Amino acid sequence: MSKNQLDKKSQAWSALFSEPMSDLVKRYTSSVFFDKRMWQADIAGSLAHAEMLAAQSIINTEDHASIQRGMAQITAEIESGNFEWKLDLEDVHLNIEARLTQLVGDAGKRLHTGRSRNDQVATDVRLWLRSEIDLIGDLLIDLQKSLVDVADKNVDVILPGFTHLQVAQPVSFGHHMLAYVEMFSRDAERMLEVRRRTNRLPLGAAALAGTSYPLDRERVARTLGMVDDKGNPQVCQNSLDAVSDRDFAIEFTAAATLCMVHISRMSEELILWMSQNFSFIKIADRFTTGSSIMPQKKNPDVPELARGKTGRVVGHLMGLITLMKGQPLAYNKDNQEDKEPLFDTVDTLKDTLRIFSEMIGGQLNPATGVKEGGITVNAPAMEQAALKGYATATDLADYLVKKGLPFRDAHEIVAHAVKAATSHTCDLSELPLTVLQEFNPMIEKDVYECLSLRGSLNARNTLGGTAPVQVHAQIARHRARLE
Ligand code: ARG
Repeated sequence: MSKNQLDKKSQAWSALFSEPMSDLVKRYTSSVFFDKRMWQADIAGSLAHAEMLAAQSIINTEDHASIQRGMAQITAEIESGNFEWKLDLEDVHLNIEARLTQLVGDAGKRLHTGRSRNDQVATDVRLWLRSEIDLIGDLLIDLQKSLVDVADKNVDVILPGFTHLQVAQPVSFGHHMLAYVEMFSRDAERMLEVRRRTNRLPLGAAALAGTSYPLDRERVARTLGMVDDKGNPQVCQNSLDAVSDRDFAIEFTAAATLCMVHISRMSEELILWMSQNFSFIKIADRFTTGSSIMPQKKNPDVPELARGKTGRVVGHLMGLITLMKGQPLAYNKDNQEDKEPLFDTVDTLKDTLRIFSEMIGGQLNPATGVKEGGITVNAPAMEQAALKGYATATDLADYLVKKGLPFRDAHEIVAHAVKAATSHTCDLSELPLTVLQEFNPMIEKDVYECLSLRGSLNARNTLGGTAPVQVHAQIARHRARLE
């Protein structure tokens, strides 16, 4: 092919083609304007491949050196914003390879020996996602630490615990915060498990069947850090599977979705707690907005948006799962559609985790070394709310059980007492002893201790319960785990 012919052809495979692609089809099929964000992974993958090709004497050391030099220049160009991304070159892989060949000639053309874009893209997505999972892991730790800090300050603050959104039993606000710490710690665990399966090498699968060159795939895996805890290289073991499945991306998005669902549940509570009818908490002004018509308003936009963005991530999960379901082996272009949902899931999750850590726990003031501007807790309002709705009714039943009554009978007696308190429009703890004794003569003065919010809290002293001693123990456990 003459130099002129080479310049004219705008695609890497073009000799066979008798007509050029229309602009519309080019735009439709190209992915460069979104997949270029994987450029670092693409270059890292190429360098590891080239190093192995040289070690196996498939390319010579001069070619290897030229590839390294070219890639260093490309890196500098991309970092400085001077790399020209071309739609005509379809995707990140072809853009970088074309520039490499422009810079270093034939050595650039030798890079693709024993490789296909199919195993290349699968490798890039895995490498890119692996580093994002690591960032997400750090953000999940930050968020958990913020929640533990708030919990620590509020172990003795009591709010009503709800079931069916009806007042159920008093709980420690610290305990309530720690419920979310549990959720986010499981999210972090899930991310680690997904990371393990993501961190496996497709390169060497080539287009779909493997390759006729004597590649050392384990060497490439080691170079790219695709190793297990013991340092053993992790290589996809079936070429057809390696190039085609995107289950790791789906798994990741499922884990991200669960994490967003946890954020969304918390958002719902923050929104409720901020409303005037609760007034349990305030979030700092910088996370709220005003209304253009109602001057008194301060709206919890950030938690509302997080709740809304959860829907978007759920949508990405559905998109990716549906993308996969009809695909025969091996690679199909459908898979190019994995990127935007995956990228947006990562961006949305990272932003949300960052903003929530700060909104809950505040921002570090470098002058004082103390975090400031997290949520403000209105302990009296919470306690006031816990006094409504007979939150200690179960405690009265438990009291009678300790006096020897079967639980079912005690339950019935307390139902009558609650009815009486309702008609007096007072709390159980406000009923005079004589009135309480009408329900059961075994009731004595010490009943008021168990009818108090604090008495109720202290009584729930089982592992995982809301008694302050238990909550303190959990805080210590989390702190040790998160350090
Ligand atoms: N841009 C493509 C993708 O994201 C790269 C792989 C293309 N392979 C191919 N045979 N067309 O999947």
